[in-house]
Amino acid sequence: MIKRISTEDLKPGMFVSSFDLSWFKHPFVSTRLGVVRDQGLINELKKLGISHVEIDTDLCTADEARPSPEIRPGKAARERLQPCPSEGDPERSARFARKLFDHAMTATRSLMDSVRAGKPVRTEEFQPLVARLVDAVNHNENVLHIILSLKSFDDYTYTHSLNLAALGVLLGKSMNLEQADLERLGLAGILHDVGKCLVPREVIVKPGPLTEEEFNLVKAHPALAHGYLSRQNDIPGEVLRAVLEHHERLDGSGYPRGLADGAIHPYSSIISVVDVYDALTSDRVYRPRMSPHAALRLLFNQRGQTFPEAMVDTFIKRLGVYPSFSVVQLRNGCYAVVTRQTPGRPLFPEVMVFCDREHRPLVKRRLDTWRLCGELARKEYEIERPVEPGELPPPMLMGIA
Ligand SMILES: [Fe+2]
Ligand SMILES: [Fe+2]
Repeated sequence: MIKRISTEDLKPGMFVSSFDLSWFKHPFVSTRLGVVRDQGLINELKKLGISHVEIDTDLCTADEARPSPEIRPGKAARERLQPCPSEGDPERSARFARKLFDHAMTATRSLMDSVRAGKPVRTEEFQPLVARLVDAVNHNENVLHIILSLKSFDDYTYTHSLNLAALGVLLGKSMNLEQADLERLGLAGILHDVGKCLVPREVIVKPGPLTEEEFNLVKAHPALAHGYLSRQNDIPGEVLRAVLEHHERLDGSGYPRGLADGAIHPYSSIISVVDVYDALTSDRVYRPRMSPHAALRLLFNQRGQTFPEAMVDTFIKRLGVYPSFSVVQLRNGCYAVVTRQTPGRPLFPEVMVFCDREHRPLVKRRLDTWRLCGELARKEYEIERPVEPGELPPPMLMGIA
C-alpha cells in the first residue's frame, strides 16, 4: 500500500516509492529510492526541501531495515539473506544487492570490532554472504555490479572488504576456478585487510604523506593479520596466504617478504589485482577516486611487471572497457552511465543518458549503443570517452539496475 508521510517521519528501513520534486532539482535517477538504509539519505531529502514522501508499506518490512550496528549478525542475520534473484528481475536484483551490502557492512563492522578486541574471528558469519556472491557470479552478475556501485554509501574500510570479496569471486570465475575456490577467494577478500585494525588508527586514516616509521607500521598489516588469523584452525591455508601475500608483487617489489613470481600463491595475486583496482576507484582521505576505465588502464600498464599478465587481461575482459556504473560521454556530447555490458561488444555497452554536453539534466533513457551504432549506423551514439568522477560524478543509481 502506498502511503504519504512527512519526511520527518521517514526512518531507515522504509521503502520510498516516490517524492515530489522536479527532476532538475534533485540528483537521483529515479524518485523511487527504494529502502532507506540510513539517516544520511533522509538528511539529504530534508536538505532538498522535500517535506513529504510516498512509501510502499508492503516493502517496508523489518527485514528490509538495516540491522542495528549493536546486533551481531548471528543466525538471525544469516536467515535474512534470501536466495539470489534471477537476472530477469532488475527491481528485485537491486533490492537484493542493497540487502547484501547492508548485511556485509554490519558483519564487517562486527569482524573488525572482534579483531580490535582480540577476539577470535567468526568466519561462519561470512559463509552466507560469500555463498550469495558466488550465486550472483553464477546466475546474476549484475547484483555484483550494483554492490560495487554502492561504495559511496559507507566507509571505505568496510566497503573495501566486500568489494574485494565480490571482485575476487568475479575474477576467479573468469579464470574458471571451482566453486570451492570462489568461496575461499570471497573469504580472503573479506579478511585480507583485518591487520589494519591492529595498526594505530591515526596512521591508517592520516590524510597527508606518511613518515617512514608510519609506512612501516602500515606495511606490517599483512603479517599482523596472518599471525592473528593463524591462531584459528578453521581458516583455509590458501586464504591465510592471500592475507599475507596480497601486497607482494610479481617483480619482487612488494611486501612483507618481497616474494617474486612463482612464490606468490594465485589467490594472493587475484586479491592483489582487485585490491589495487578497488583502491584506485574509491575516494581515499589522501586522493579522490579515478574512473574504472582509468584504473584498468593503469593495471594494464603494469601487467607482466607487478601483476600476472593473463590475470589482468582476464579481469579487464570481464569488467569491459567501460565497466558498469561508470560515466561516459557519447559523440553527441551527452553524458551517460553504463548500465550493462553487451556480450562480445566491449565498446558498445547499454547506457543510460542523464545529461547533455553542458551538464543540464535530460530525461533519462536507456540506449543500446550496439544496436544504434551497429544496426542503425547512428554514430553519434558511440562512446567518445570515459569521464573521470572529478569532472562529473555518477548519478545515484539504485533502482535502474
Ligand atoms: Fe592490504
Ligand atoms: Fe586492501
